Amino acid sequence: MCGIVGAIGLNNPLEYVQKGLKMLDYRGYDSAGIGFFSNGIDIIKDVGSVEHLMSITPQNIQTNLIIGHTRWATHGSPDIRNTHPHISFNKRICLVHNGVIDNYKEIKDFLFEKGYRFYGETDSEAVANLLEYYYLEKKDVKSAIKETMSLIIGSYAIVFFTNNDPNTLYLFKNSSPLVIGVGDGFNLVASDASPLVKYTNDFIELDDFSFAVINEKEAKVFDREGNPIQAKIINKDIELISHDLKGYPHYMLKEIEEISPVINRIVNNYYINNKYQFDPQLIKDLNESDHIIFIACGTSYHVSLVGGRYFENYGKSASRFIASEWAFHPTFPGQKPFVILISQSGETADLIHCLNIIKQQNLNNLIITNTGGSTLDRNSHYSLLLHAGIEVSVASTKAYVAQTTLLALLAASLKDDYSVIDDLKHCIEVVEDIQNNYKPIIQKTAGELKDHQNIFYLGRSYDYFLSLEASLKLKEISYIHSEAIPGGELKHGPIALIEDGLPVIVFITDPTTAASMRGNIEEVKSRGAKVYVISTRSLSQQGDTIIVNDYAPYLSSVAISTVAFYLAYYVALAKGLNVDKPRNLAKSVTVE
Ligand code: AGP
Repeated sequence: MCGIVGAIGLNNPLEYVQKGLKMLDYRGYDSAGIGFFSNGIDIIKDVGSVEHLMSITPQNIQTNLIIGHTRWATHGSPDIRNTHPHISFNKRICLVHNGVIDNYKEIKDFLFEKGYRFYGETDSEAVANLLEYYYLEKKDVKSAIKETMSLIIGSYAIVFFTNNDPNTLYLFKNSSPLVIGVGDGFNLVASDASPLVKYTNDFIELDDFSFAVINEKEAKVFDREGNPIQAKIINKDIELISHDLKGYPHYMLKEIEEISPVINRIVNNYYINNKYQFDPQLIKDLNESDHIIFIACGTSYHVSLVGGRYFENYGKSASRFIASEWAFHPTFPGQKPFVILISQSGETADLIHCLNIIKQQNLNNLIITNTGGSTLDRNSHYSLLLHAGIEVSVASTKAYVAQTTLLALLAASLKDDYSVIDDLKHCIEVVEDIQNNYKPIIQKTAGELKDHQNIFYLGRSYDYFLSLEASLKLKEISYIHSEAIPGGELKHGPIALIEDGLPVIVFITDPTTAASMRGNIEEVKSRGAKVYVISTRSLSQQGDTIIVNDYAPYLSSVAISTVAFYLAYYVALAKGLNVDKPRNLAKSVTVE
């Protein structure tokens, strides 16, 4: 889970690397480093943030070529030895790597036999040495890449240069993203396109098991056998991948405030001229399947709980699985299942594992993702993009709403039901009202919650699914222990935890469950809980903390998740925490 940048032929390469690594530190941020060519290979690296790296980097570095890396430790602790770039044993290769090499121990044993020694614990250092071994043996870098790719097993995006060529960068990949930005007199590389957009509109997305050789004039791409490939140059909508904070103090706040335009954009993208715009073959395949299997992780898994219910509402049977659970015990309910994978990043390793199993089984599959060109987007049978714009904050917000919105549209399209369009448009008004008028009361509530060690969320049905997400968001960025409990389950155990002063946040937005939820409130209140009710106007009662306008109850996750997101945001802010980059987490979980 690391970010990579590289540049060749650029006038101010340090500026590109500095800004690029900052944009990519959502992929990891425990250490960072750069490698460049002065009189030979030179590196500067340290534990800590990209800002720290830049504070120890002389600003007058002269180099035609540079690579950079921001790390989230997997193999080996986040210390200086394991920080990238890595230099090979005989100092011929300088390399950065994102991913995990599964057979790195065997590679290390092989190299040890050949006299190689290692200064750190990473799998990446093993690849640097393997490349060097074949480079010295074959006297040719391309051959070294081919040999290395044929031996290493796992996920990798690798960029490197050699000690005797200040004018060439080499890159190769499998299952981890790598994008080339094609410029006029320069070429760039990055883990995603965001660092590149200031410099170029032309991108090459490298395919798995391909490699590229780039200098300032050209980018040549080859397949694993070394045959040249005609690389496809693609353009991207720059607005959707821009990292501009637009005056907001945090990405999370900016992304919460983008929720209403995002709902609108999705509706306008998938519903044009009074018709749904989904691929008719996709709809046919979904209709002909007898079971929908949802697989996802984290927030996206919470979306699958809602999405599964949407499909059930239209007569499909559905199951929902956590990817890391399903991957080791895959089950295939139904005679003709159709698998829907959900992933904001499109790079989640647990889900890629599942997709490989699904493809082996020849099952129809669809990815719902925010990231066009991602591994899951490119390798699944069908793909639907969220068009939500890049989500930088580790805590997912607008993507959660976008995924739910898209599933509401997709499920309704199975039966040509257009009522969801008006329901969603109405949600946009509810969300805008929350954004414009509810921040003071949410902030006040956050102030009351911030010093607690435990906070419970209660809900039933759609409100329970929303509670799960509200609870994950709170614990993720405020480090407060939190649990979401279905109202009806309270008496089956969790009520034992209710004690004097414990905050319990209750969602009441569904007429079918409202009375039962009010009963639950009495149960926890009588045991001393401090209850905060978030309700819709028609179901509200005096004393409720936050009352929002009514909407179709099945859209709870679309309409009032905004309240839950603001609440988590303001609690973390009140505690003085790093809202966008909570400890121990990375935006894109590219390791299992
Ligand atoms: C969300 O706030 C979390 N950071 C996390 O649970 C995330 O949703 C999960 O890792 C799945 O990511 P994906 O949607 O990119 O696959």
